[in-house]
Amino acid sequence: MEKTAKLTVEKDFKIAEIDKRIYGSFIEHLGRAVYGGIWQPGHKTADEEGFRQDVLGLVRELNIPIVRYPGGNFVSNFYWEDSVGPVENRPSRLELAWRSTEPNRIGINEFASWCKKAGAEVMQAVNLGTRGIEAACNLLEYCNHPAGTKYSDLRIAHGVKDPHSIKVWCLGNEMDGPWQTGHKTAAEYGHLADETAKAMKQIDPSIELVLCGSSNTGMPTFPEWESTALEWAYNSVDYISLHQYYGNRFNDTANFLAQSDDMDHFIKTVVATCDYVKAKKRAKKNINLSFDEWNVWFHANEADDDTMKNRPWQVAPHLLEDHYDFEDALLVGLMLITLMKHSDRVKMACMAQLVNVIAPIMTEENGPAWRQTIYYPLLHASKYGRGTALQPVLSSPKHDTLDFTDVTDVESIAVWNEEKEEVTVFAVNRSVTDDVVLDIDLRAFAGFRLQEHIVLENSDMKAVNTAEQQVVAPKTVADRSAYEGETLRAKLAKTSWNVLRFAK
Ligand code: AHR
Repeated sequence: MEKTAKLTVEKDFKIAEIDKRIYGSFIEHLGRAVYGGIWQPGHKTADEEGFRQDVLGLVRELNIPIVRYPGGNFVSNFYWEDSVGPVENRPSRLELAWRSTEPNRIGINEFASWCKKAGAEVMQAVNLGTRGIEAACNLLEYCNHPAGTKYSDLRIAHGVKDPHSIKVWCLGNEMDGPWQTGHKTAAEYGHLADETAKAMKQIDPSIELVLCGSSNTGMPTFPEWESTALEWAYNSVDYISLHQYYGNRFNDTANFLAQSDDMDHFIKTVVATCDYVKAKKRAKKNINLSFDEWNVWFHANEADDDTMKNRPWQVAPHLLEDHYDFEDALLVGLMLITLMKHSDRVKMACMAQLVNVIAPIMTEENGPAWRQTIYYPLLHASKYGRGTALQPVLSSPKHDTLDFTDVTDVESIAVWNEEKEEVTVFAVNRSVTDDVVLDIDLRAFAGFRLQEHIVLENSDMKAVNTAEQQVVAPKTVADRSAYEGETLRAKLAKTSWNVLRFAK
């Protein structure tokens, strides 16, 4: 029997205007993200600053609005002063998080220049691991103060006349994690983050600050960490961070694809915790969420452990080079839908990361840059997921998996772009056994008709792309839907990512 799901799309059921920064990304000084990734002076596409233009082309295609930098775990032992000024005077340093050598050829000024070329804003993290208030304030003065002080004049002396005017700053990284250099208890961190935030806002009151939340839902301190850190810093920060990576370690596709339900639960719990502290403090403002690390990450774990243990202190080693398959793209699509569904509170999110390191874009040293499978859902979401997220009134068949119950076969959301007079429905059929017909009732959008149905599908869950071949790539289908009155009946093939674009 045919399985059906139903989605009602109503103009008045608004979740929120999507903040475009939920389509952000992340570049860490890790592996080949910077060296051999965005920057490779000898490469045939390198521009006058050494930035690979083939990579820039793909980043621009993704239309990434904000890029977190320079870490990640890297930031907790980052000496920003080493990364500025004449390149020949910059030291190489031991990089503790990834047991590599950091040559400091690229630093804050070069990265800001790259971001301009990419059309993105910088999200800058400060070191609250081995350093603290003083280094964070000096860095902010260096980056954002116009002129006439020690650090702003130093920036000018380094050839950067105009301030970078970086708006979003992360107060450390994953400070709840015992692996973090300078790891702290929630109270120690909350106190330090609050004092750092207050001082930074004295320097530049226009900045927005992100407090570290938990590193993942499995942390034993989650969500007590959020509650304690917010008790300290509620009034001085604007966002709290969430990080989450998933993997298919036991090769159970149905269970793997159900993990976006865990992400949904994570977001709801953090929102509840923020609002609990708000109530306790009789505060007026909300703390919003910055999901500033999310992705699939597990493929290269063993190889990475081996490299860090047995071949440490390399410059730009091959690390975290996960080679993504088709099912990874489906989970990435599901995670994007989850972020859109929470766009009333999730205002920023960064796919971690962007180039070579758990990334949608890979580079060959003497060859091209190419698109991994996970590139495509991010591309579609960033391109068509701008506007107002509409509450998905969705009924779907359900199934159970090893770790999850009542998992909907279909996950979906509609985004209304009023300016362009377009509605886009994103939908994943995560059933591993059945096609599902999705009845889309566009009752409030009289005159809107289907323009395009884009599909990402593959019969092989483990299909991957390479530099030579795009085995997993989207296609447009014309024969999978038909109107019944105002309802579009669209067939969603089992395990598929679908983008249905409607316009007047
Ligand atoms: O993105 C890779 C790493 O994952 C980051 O450095 C860290 O913050 C997280 O654990």
